[in-house]
Amino acid sequence: MRDPKERLIIALDYPELPPALEMARLVGPKVGMLKVGLELFNSAGPEAVSALRELGARVFYDSKFSDIPNTVAGAAAAVGRMGVSMFNVHALGGSRMMMEARRAAVEAASEAGLVPPLVIGVTVVTSLGEGEVREELGIPANAHDTAVRLAVLAKRAGLDGVVAAVHEVPEIKRVCGKEFLAVTPGIRPAWAQAGDQSRIATPLAAIEAGSDYLVVGRPVTRAEDPAAAVAAILGEMKGASRE
Ligand code: C5P
Repeated sequence: MRDPKERLIIALDYPELPPALEMARLVGPKVGMLKVGLELFNSAGPEAVSALRELGARVFYDSKFSDIPNTVAGAAAAVGRMGVSMFNVHALGGSRMMMEARRAAVEAASEAGLVPPLVIGVTVVTSLGEGEVREELGIPANAHDTAVRLAVLAKRAGLDGVVAAVHEVPEIKRVCGKEFLAVTPGIRPAWAQAGDQSRIATPLAAIEAGSDYLVVGRPVTRAEDPAAAVAAILGEMKGASRE
């Protein structure tokens, strides 16, 4: 199986750069990527990405773009020039928007002499429960079917994979193919608190479901010993029976 280390992504959800860098120094060398999300990016800006890259980390910018295709393409081009390894757009923005995002990011990165980032579609955020998907958003299908449908849309638009909940991964892989990447947040080792995540799974379950990348935030960043938490998660991933 691929090295579990490369498949683990730690979410640096901090309101400012210094604690994010402190955590990055602690756990960055032990994992595949560090994730800069909306909180850190909107407080520290692109410097968050450049500072992490200077530490030698690969960066997943959890941009969750959703706008008209032209605007998202402009943002994606800027992301392509930043040298991130992965970023994402909402699949609910539609296939034209996703196609434009990918084209713009790949073009901009190539022009800058950088490796183009993986472009990932966000399906249904894992904090949303079935009731919210149905009653608040008025989507008649359940969260699972909605996520699979959006994954198919993302695949057709040429994206590299999707962010989805662990239990959606087997069906997404079946429909979109094994090579289509599954990035799964909502990971909770047995010893961690669920927090605001609804559709959660353990690291072992994520690997067994076929997840390619596991996104873990608070179970590591709020742990008393974050390095030990990473080691425990990697140990659990290594124990998985399948690729
Ligand atoms: O702290 P926790 O492990 O819940 O962090 C999960 C991370 O994954 C957060 O940064 C959150 O923004 C992100 N995420 C998510 N659900 C998605 C996409 C991203 O929880 N569908």
